[in-house]
Amino acid sequence: MASPVAFNQAAWQQAAFDKSFVVGPGPDQTHPADDEVVIKVAYVAINPSEWKFQEWAYLPVEYPHIIGSDAAGEVVLTGSKVTRFEPGDRVIGHCLGLVYGGARHGAFQLYTTVRERLTAKLPPAIPFSKGVVLPLALSTATAGLFEILKLRLPTTPPTPSTGEIVLIWGGSSSVGTVASQLARAAGYDVVTTASQRNHTYAKEMGAIEVFDYADPEVIPKLKEYLSGTKFAGALDCIGDSGAPDACAEIVKSLLGGGVVPTMLWPPKDLPEGVEGVLGRCSAVRGGRFDGHQADPVVVYASNPGTEDNYIAADVWERFVPAALASGVLQTKPEPQVLTGGLEKLQEALALQKRGVSARKIVMEIDASMGP
Ligand SMILES: NC(=O)c1ccc[n+]([C@@H]2O[C@H](COP(=O)([O-])OP(=O)(O)OC[C@H]3O[C@@H](n4cnc5c(N)ncnc54)[C@H](OP(=O)(O)O)[C@@H]3O)[C@@H](O)[C@H]2O)c1
Repeated sequence: MASPVAFNQAAWQQAAFDKSFVVGPGPDQTHPADDEVVIKVAYVAINPSEWKFQEWAYLPVEYPHIIGSDAAGEVVLTGSKVTRFEPGDRVIGHCLGLVYGGARHGAFQLYTTVRERLTAKLPPAIPFSKGVVLPLALSTATAGLFEILKLRLPTTPPTPSTGEIVLIWGGSSSVGTVASQLARAAGYDVVTTASQRNHTYAKEMGAIEVFDYADPEVIPKLKEYLSGTKFAGALDCIGDSGAPDACAEIVKSLLGGGVVPTMLWPPKDLPEGVEGVLGRCSAVRGGRFDGHQADPVVVYASNPGTEDNYIAADVWERFVPAALASGVLQTKPEPQVLTGGLEKLQEALALQKRGVSARKIVMEIDASMGP
């Protein structure tokens, strides 16, 4: 009898710039590579990068393609060298389909394939629908804080505060929420920006101080607050609306120069006006963070999964499972759960594009697997 995995269904994007999915038979997921894990998908989460990919086709992929970065579900198959997972494990995984492995690795299907290095077990008490908010944000924040800024790695229990401060611009976004928690667990004090209504939320995520990014005086206020502190650097978790410039100005003012990891994406074929931002961020290089490679300012979320570096192991393998079990890493922002499965994904992308505030749009894919 054929494995149920053979009856995969997927939401296909048929061509570049298409803004609709065609649901049909999915790729064969029955032969994971040595280091891959096949997951029966219970929930997927929606990120800005998905609707941006449909609008800008910012990476070369073979069409038809399956997009989607965040999946939560149950392991059904493991590659021959996988040691940390077995069938039946409840997991979350960062799906790399845009840069690695092709359509098999997109999240928007009933069965997806992830690399073991970007997969973590979900404690029994955490529903799939909550755990699924984390994967892409986790890899992104990891790349920004630990690959580019080269901060100390997070620990469980959290490293006691050293008094060093990290500015996380956009503390109520998905990426900022995880970045705040990671920086806090690494012993840094987090200062962040968010709308007034999300100041309590940002503090719950680890910030010691929150500034309103809409305040016209926010940059001078932050400079004044950070002046004389052990300022360790800034991470722009927004990528537009002046956020990269603001971070660059603050870093330049306080440190005399340095790298500002930015979410600015895509780094090539940039939308109008963005080149200048990149130029200015690059211009503040040369100070305390000197020595990074040529294009250090743009965060590449996929790096922890594709580069052979220590970061994926240290964060995804050693930190995340223990931190989830102990509550050091919370599954935030809260999901806004939609139903309708693969057929309704395009509506979910449209909802995310309209904007969220300390929320993650999540789609139920297989209701039979529980919340
Ligand atoms: N380069 C990469 O590898 C990579 C990877 C993942 C994401 N990204 C990019 O990173 C950005 C964030 O993604 P996400 O999923 O975290 O976004 P998100 O959760 O959808 O972002 C929404 C949040 O952004 C906040 N926000 C909006 N404008 C802001 C500003 N000017 N300053 C501070 N906060 C602001 C809002 O705060 P309030 O509600 O408090 O107003 C809201 O909570 C997106 O541009 C995304 O495309 C890049």
